[in-house]
Amino acid sequence: MPTLLLIGASRGLGHAMAAEFITKGWHVVGTVRAGARTPLHDLSDAHPGWIDIETLDITDSGQLHALRQRLAGRVFDALFVNAGTTNPDPTQTIGAVSTEDFVSLMITNALSPMRVLETLAECVRPDGLLGVMSSGQGSIANNHAGQRELYRGTKAALNQFMRSFAARQDSARRPMLTMAPGWVRTELGGDEAPLRIEDSIPSLVNVMLTKLGRPGLEYLDYQGRTVPW
Ligand SMILES: NC(=O)c1ccc[n+]([C@@H]2O[C@H](COP(=O)([O-])OP(=O)(O)OC[C@H]3O[C@@H](n4cnc5c(N)ncnc54)[C@H](OP(=O)(O)O)[C@@H]3O)[C@@H](O)[C@H]2O)c1
Repeated sequence: MPTLLLIGASRGLGHAMAAEFITKGWHVVGTVRAGARTPLHDLSDAHPGWIDIETLDITDSGQLHALRQRLAGRVFDALFVNAGTTNPDPTQTIGAVSTEDFVSLMITNALSPMRVLETLAECVRPDGLLGVMSSGQGSIANNHAGQRELYRGTKAALNQFMRSFAARQDSARRPMLTMAPGWVRTELGGDEAPLRIEDSIPSLVNVMLTKLGRPGLEYLDYQGRTVPW
């Protein structure tokens, strides 16, 4: 049974990815932040044996190293970092954003996903998939409308870090992805988003499964279309 290590699977898109992967016959190890019960716990209870739940706050290096210790010896077919967030007032221009919000969002959306990837990649087989959840808003080439300036900047930084990471890999062997899920109705996406989770995630998971046999880094949307960097 192929296995996925999915970081940030408590709710929203990550939870839906876990649900979709198990319908495809994958075993999922999904992470949540410690504390409250989450929809992933309900999903795990409804599908005994298919989902293991681990805890990780991606901004906490101590927790990350503890997770690596707990996973030592396991070999995954794919690792995907979905966890991400936005700033308290996404309408602020970049000059109006506080230094505290800037640092906090950069750490959560750009630095921490890459730390997770670098730290846990050793748990993935050499030709296994490594991916992160970016956003169409991370595209510099497509930024004609502006808006959500800090959030865009963090996802553009994440894309750039993935390019640097990919340059260090044996890209002849390893498939790598930065994914754009579309604008989806979740707590982060908000009620105005045009897509429902079920419009995006089943297709996004198919894109990931197709990518398994295609080495190298690609920036793709949920329909498998290339997004310009
Ligand atoms: N929805 C959209 O329209 C959209 C569009 C483009 C990209 N994205 C990206 O898709 C990903 C998922 O977003 P979503 O729409 O599903 O948002 P969401 O419903 O707000 O879920 C965010 C997820 O990230 C986790 N998370 C946030 N900070 C974390 C941290 N420090 N450590 C561990 N987990 C953390 C949350 O865990 P908790 O439950 O513990 O808070 C939750 O599982 C994000 O990377 C987002 O930027 C979303």
